[in-house]
Amino acid sequence: MGKNRDMSEVVLRAEHLTKRYPIKKGLFGKAANYVHALEDVSFELHRGETFAIVGESGCGKSTTGKCVLRLTEPTEGKVLLGEEDFTSLSGEALTKARQKMKLIFQDPYSSLNPRMTVADIIAEPIDIAGTYKTRAERDARVEEVMEAVGLDLAFKYRYPHEFSGGQRQRIGIARAIVLEPEIVVCDEPVSALDVSVQAKVINLLEQLQDRLGLSYIFISHDLSVVKHISDTVMVMYLGHEMELADKEALFAKPLHPYTQALLDVIPRIRHERIQDKRILEGDVPSPTNPPSGCVFHTRCPKCMKVCSERAPELREVEPGHLCACHLFDDALSEAERQLVGVSVAAK
Ligand SMILES: Nc1ncnc2c1ncn2[C@@H]1O[C@H](COP(=O)(O)OP(=O)(O)OP(=O)(O)O)[C@@H](O)[C@H]1O
Ligand SMILES: [Mg+2]
Repeated sequence: MGKNRDMSEVVLRAEHLTKRYPIKKGLFGKAANYVHALEDVSFELHRGETFAIVGESGCGKSTTGKCVLRLTEPTEGKVLLGEEDFTSLSGEALTKARQKMKLIFQDPYSSLNPRMTVADIIAEPIDIAGTYKTRAERDARVEEVMEAVGLDLAFKYRYPHEFSGGQRQRIGIARAIVLEPEIVVCDEPVSALDVSVQAKVINLLEQLQDRLGLSYIFISHDLSVVKHISDTVMVMYLGHEMELADKEALFAKPLHPYTQALLDVIPRIRHERIQDKRILEGDVPSPTNPPSGCVFHTRCPKCMKVCSERAPELREVEPGHLCACHLFDDALSEAERQLVGVSVAAK
């Protein structure tokens, strides 16, 4: 959790991000259909904040991260860095702005070049940017960063395969922070690691955040990790933003039936309610052909007549607590409120 979080300073603003991946038909064929990976997602990241993005596999978490970094171009929407429209930058200005944002990958085994030494892997971003004039300055920076992430300097000239998963993730983190970014997108940074190593890497990320004033976009499907590290949480389902709130509010009082079901499957958090635990049944529908209305209606225990007809708006239900669900729409008619189906079984 960001100790030095400053909610008055927005470092990044995602506005209406939408990504549709075309599915091509034949070699020269036009797009026959689209994967609706991301639909109208907006959020703000504040200085020193850890903003978590959670949801089941395929819900669009990594796509959000990639659009934010412009590793893939959003189909619609934009990303503002401070006041600057990052999505419209090109050339030199884009290269410069890119240095403010870095990515930590999920898989520390495949993301590091096996033919480069640890020192060269960490130094690569500064070598490319030409940050230091002399070799001595460059080497000093590498050592400084290695120390900051808890890597023994004796390992400088070793190769990635000689390291454990946790150590490799430290190398990845060192590489991400060497250019002093403001924002780090952490995409499942500990999911590939043994549980015993996860806590150490999480602690390192927290320490670095406090020391360097970093803001994190922290992508994870593991709610117990998110409960520990985040300040703010955005819950996604099938590319849509379902709920967004302060961590405390979200875990204490989840509003969306989807969030409630997600939280119910972590017994450590909601053990008191294990008797009437709500289990999500059925598979996530295809993002190529998403359900009409609310995308969650096919699996929602509280599905009403309106839910298959109209998409709910993202509303501020309580101060700072946003939720996209018709349950919080006061303007519905009696007919629209009619309960239609319970697809989630009590267990
Ligand atoms: N390059 C691509 N081309 C086509 N479809 C894609 C591409 N990348 C992702 N998708 C699809 O977009 C949707 C969202 O994918 P994304 O990787 O963002 O999900 P995720 O939430 O990160 O999942 P996971 O938890 O498994 O990492 C999925 O249906 C995925 O199959
Ligand atoms: Mg992903």
